Amino acid sequence: MSFSYQNQILFAESVAVTDLVAAYGSPLYIYSRLEIEQNYQKFDSAFGKHPHLICYAVKANSNLAVLNTLANLGSGFDIVSEGELQRVLAAGGKAENCVFSGVAKTAQAIKFALEKNVRCLNVESAAELDRIEAVARSSGISAPISIRVNPNVDAKTHPYISTGLQENKFGVEIEAAIALYQRAQDSKFLQVQGLDCHIGSQITEVSPFLDALDKLLILLEKLKAKGIQITHLDLGGGIGIQYENEQTIEIKAYVDSVLSKVGELEIILEPGRAIVGNAGIFVTKVEFLKQNSKHSFAIVDGAMNDFLRPSFYNAYHQILPVNQASSGIQANWDIVGPVCETSDFLAKNRNLNLAQGDFLALMAAGAYGKSHRMHQNIKIIPMFFEC
Ligand code: LLP
Repeated sequence: MSFSYQNQILFAESVAVTDLVAAYGSPLYIYSRLEIEQNYQKFDSAFGKHPHLICYAVKANSNLAVLNTLANLGSGFDIVSEGELQRVLAAGGKAENCVFSGVAKTAQAIKFALEKNVRCLNVESAAELDRIEAVARSSGISAPISIRVNPNVDAKTHPYISTGLQENKFGVEIEAAIALYQRAQDSKFLQVQGLDCHIGSQITEVSPFLDALDKLLILLEKLKAKGIQITHLDLGGGIGIQYENEQTIEIKAYVDSVLSKVGELEIILEPGRAIVGNAGIFVTKVEFLKQNSKHSFAIVDGAMNDFLRPSFYNAYHQILPVNQASSGIQANWDIVGPVCETSDFLAKNRNLNLAQGDFLALMAAGAYGKSHRMHQNIKIIPMFFEC
């Protein structure tokens, strides 16, 4: 564990969190490089010599130091915008190891990705295939593509992060994919490379992944019969982590069951959360304690805009005191932020002993916390600042 107590003080690897807040202030995100490296290695080593590429999903956390840590390990990246590709390149990653996902790729982003020579564009609709072909033609560069299919399997996760059902906006139906592949095969400006799916996030059972894989393999055979050759299978990300007491997937067992079905085919995975989720914590300071006849509120300096998951998904994150020796009032506290929204909470009903000025650590905050999808086109206009 990269976050543990020594003499009742929470440490991040060998550094006291109290020292970090003293140096950098709060609220503060802290990441463990070691944890990120170990999480990546679990995926990479599970494949042994089987051809594979781990494409870390940048949307999970696009912090440049995080990307650089992964680039140094030889990781590939799953990007969804020009801005994300620019961050990968700035952090030392290679475009040739990037797959480009996302339902709304702009012509500008497609052009940039083709010029930088990305590994593959994962196509999400017929209209997008048209756009990619048009940009490829005008750039004089043939575009490497996969079709992202929607296998219509239930990932058994929160409905907001389930992506592989017909009612979700992602991918194209398996039956419709064949015609798109045929179109791509017939175009001088498109090169068919892979077959792709991503069924959702925070998935805690292997069976939905294998159900999706079975459907993809049937499609692969149909494509082969039509003379359409697929050289890699991209199974997306989605592997869940432990926030409370969920069971989690053993990565080696998952990869073994995939490899038992796919022959020699190269496999791409796009894990995000499973690489950075438990490698980050969010530290926040108790500004005030406030109790009424029914509720106890710890008002902290970190808010929903710093860490959205609790208010958006009602997500549970463990809250730990940074200094276990601090003593104050024992109660069931709601940990709430300064924003004028009742939904501005980080945790509810946590039995903690708190005093004003204490620091609290919200655990497993490394994924989908601070950094989200990076657009290239966000400009800071004088007088309008993000804070
Ligand atoms: N590939 C694609 C195409 C994706 O859309 C995603 C995540 C991933 C890979 C990485 O999935 P992961 O391995 O991290 O599960 N904000 C939500 C999660 C949204 C996930 C979006 N797509 C949350 O906080 O739970």
